Amino acid sequence: MPQLARRIGRAKPSAIMQVAEKAKRLKAEGRDIISFSIGVPNFLPGEHVYAAARDALAKDSGQYGSNRGADLLLDAFIEHMGKIGLTGYGRVNVATGVGAKHVIYNLAEALLDEGDAIAFPTPYWTSYLDIAEIVNAKIELLPCPPEQDYKLTPAQLDAALAKKPKVFLFNNPSNPTGMVYTKEEIAALADVIAKYPDTWVITDDIYNRMVFDGVGYHNFVHARPELRDRVIFIDSLSKTYGMPGWRVGFMAGPEAVAQAIVTMNSNHITNVPEIATAAAIAALTGPQDVPTAKCAEFQAKRDQVMAALAQIPGVVCPRPQGAFYVFPDISVAFGRTHGPTGLAIGNDVDFCNALLEAKGVACVPGSAFGEPRALRISYTCPTQQLAPGLQRFQEFFAELQ
Ligand SMILES: Cc1ncc(COP(=O)(O)O)c(C=O)c1O
Repeated sequence: MPQLARRIGRAKPSAIMQVAEKAKRLKAEGRDIISFSIGVPNFLPGEHVYAAARDALAKDSGQYGSNRGADLLLDAFIEHMGKIGLTGYGRVNVATGVGAKHVIYNLAEALLDEGDAIAFPTPYWTSYLDIAEIVNAKIELLPCPPEQDYKLTPAQLDAALAKKPKVFLFNNPSNPTGMVYTKEEIAALADVIAKYPDTWVITDDIYNRMVFDGVGYHNFVHARPELRDRVIFIDSLSKTYGMPGWRVGFMAGPEAVAQAIVTMNSNHITNVPEIATAAAIAALTGPQDVPTAKCAEFQAKRDQVMAALAQIPGVVCPRPQGAFYVFPDISVAFGRTHGPTGLAIGNDVDFCNALLEAKGVACVPGSAFGEPRALRISYTCPTQQLAPGLQRFQEFFAELQ
């Protein structure tokens, strides 16, 4: 049989999906499962979004669309960015894709030759590693442990950029930690970035509308507008609008980079489909009450999760201020055994397996994100499941010997 390309050998199936699959299987077997695993928002967009999609269906053009994205969608996105203070971008600076993941993949192809270095903080969103491996980039991980609130320091960034990676990839608010950088922290990192003009900077900030406690969303371009000639901002409808399956993502940045994405699109997807485009325009320009209400709900759920974790001796958890994840350090459980089942817990994967077996609660092991001392709780489950899920989590800890 002929061989597959070597890059496929480097690509791994998502660890997050593996947990989700196991939880689904147990559920199908009749087990009572509470899922804290997949990072889906678990709400639907407003009715105006469906109305726009139905209208687009009725008026189907029967044509291919623009490789960059329909003009009305680009304009809606540019206006949307303006609301978070990212101004001065024109249609030539933006491009769309089939979700942010696709845009990031395209950027990796567009910016990285084989062997070029890409630096990003750990914990990281799993796909960063997988995409970098597929394009055969040299990966420089910047460890940000719980002791430093999972945040990158200016000194760390300085040391990393001094090695001149081709790309620095940054994620704020963070998946998996939920951490949000303050205005001052972003300004300090931006000062470092300004010293190293040979590095592209991707800010994957798709959770930028899900920020709590009045911290606000801040980008390197806010702090230093001159950085816009190499900062590439990523956004998506998936989390903010409860539209992960509609697959609409965006980038904004230098004209040459946006043009590169257009070229990539022209060679595979051609265009974001017309119906998804209409729905996206409606989401961006229509009433914002659904995302606003969900942000408030997630902040309250964050508080509920943190209150439950605070009652477990030895579990350390920096307080997230955005997205919908909490990333506790559960390493206090390592080397112990779950009494009732006799399951031994040597690491985060054992912990998550035992928790799922014993209590029917699905979480993602931290090693999927490059931090094996932790696990990720995604708390978008129906409100009535959150308290029982957290209670089972506490019981599991209480039963460790
Ligand atoms: C940090 C981060 N970036 C990008 C994505 C991908 O989003 P999309 O659904 O737009 O592809 C996700 C999805 O989980 C994410 O958490």
